[in-house]
Amino acid sequence: MSPTSRPLTTAALAQLFHARTGLDATFFVRAPGRVNLIGEHIDYNDLAVLPAAIQREVRIVLRPRDDAHVRLTNVDERFGTREFELSSSIAPFEQGDWGNYAKAAAELFARERGATRGFDALVIGDIPPAAGLSSSSALTVACGLAFAAANGLARDPLDLADALARAERYVGTNSGGMDQAACLSGRADHALRIEFRPLKVEPVPLPSDWRFLIAHSGVQADKSGAAREAYNTRRAECAQALAAVLIDPELTPELQAGMPPTYRGLLARIGAERLAWIALRQLDGALARRFRHVVSEGARVERARKALVAGDIEIFGQLMDDSHTSLADDYEASHPALDRLVALAHQHGALGARLTGAGFGGCIVALVRERDAERLRAALERDFYGGNAGDALLIARASAGASVEPLAQVLARA
Ligand code: GLA
Repeated sequence: MSPTSRPLTTAALAQLFHARTGLDATFFVRAPGRVNLIGEHIDYNDLAVLPAAIQREVRIVLRPRDDAHVRLTNVDERFGTREFELSSSIAPFEQGDWGNYAKAAAELFARERGATRGFDALVIGDIPPAAGLSSSSALTVACGLAFAAANGLARDPLDLADALARAERYVGTNSGGMDQAACLSGRADHALRIEFRPLKVEPVPLPSDWRFLIAHSGVQADKSGAAREAYNTRRAECAQALAAVLIDPELTPELQAGMPPTYRGLLARIGAERLAWIALRQLDGALARRFRHVVSEGARVERARKALVAGDIEIFGQLMDDSHTSLADDYEASHPALDRLVALAHQHGALGARLTGAGFGGCIVALVRERDAERLRAALERDFYGGNAGDALLIARASAGASVEPLAQVLARA
């Protein structure tokens, strides 16, 4: 998981901006990635999830312009510079281009919030791309905050998270709202229970002796590239499965009275196991299994939140394991490399392990007690990475949400 760029201090980033443009940057933005602890592929089914923002982040220094031009240079030369005009309808760069996340935010701010001013910006980041840690949403959020600051617009985190989740569909992936909400609402040392429609975030303290180890499988899963079709297909399957179950005779009009016709509505009335059984009457193999993943994962998130509050690491770990099995068997979103990492993590002391993010590649997250974390890290380094994990292993530190501030303020504090 080589970071996209070596970390630079904010002062060094500001100096680099000056060296390249001859101007002084005026704002500093940071937007973290996230690790999802449990609740996978259910945000777009309106069920709650439980991620945490992490210490890896996108950082931007910028200077607003008087015109609508947007110019973003990535410190990492492999990504280069992207330029475009801020407007309510912007033609995308080619599929998979990182600049499309900036365009997604730009279009939203021009179309819905009256933004007219672009900016010159220098971007740096250390969230590995296509790893399931939300590097792309962090970039969308960072750009959103940059447009808000450049145009003097409001930036309420929940409102922005909702809007930017919609905006990011510009790249062609029909994503849910977890990533933007986690990025904007992160809190140090807390997991986040996120509910959708309406968006609501409840920070839940993480016990001080729990550690979440993130390990990259080495398989890229690019949300705006190869993984996009698989993701969109799963989402469509969930909608189809729901529609079929809603007409089952067991769901009588009395039972459905006042019930929203959603997965959440169903789970509020009927247990996950019973629902999965009903689905078998209405659906063929694959769709019935997709449905079973969604309802069982929804139920697991609620149990995981309780285990977290009770500090019950064994139960939380078991729920992570069950989540992985369900994602692998019922949702078919895993990959042999992820399954292997999960198995190895168990062998070396993890109390639970699962793929994190959309899957199809990317990372796993493993839960371990603090005293066993180094042993687990070393064992994975030896057995999975042949003694040289480089940056592929990371112990997550639950971190604060995205922010934008006047650069002078940040530099004065440093
Ligand atoms: C991606 C999407 C999220 C969510 C996860 C899977 O990260 O952006 O909205 O659906 O996949 O849980």
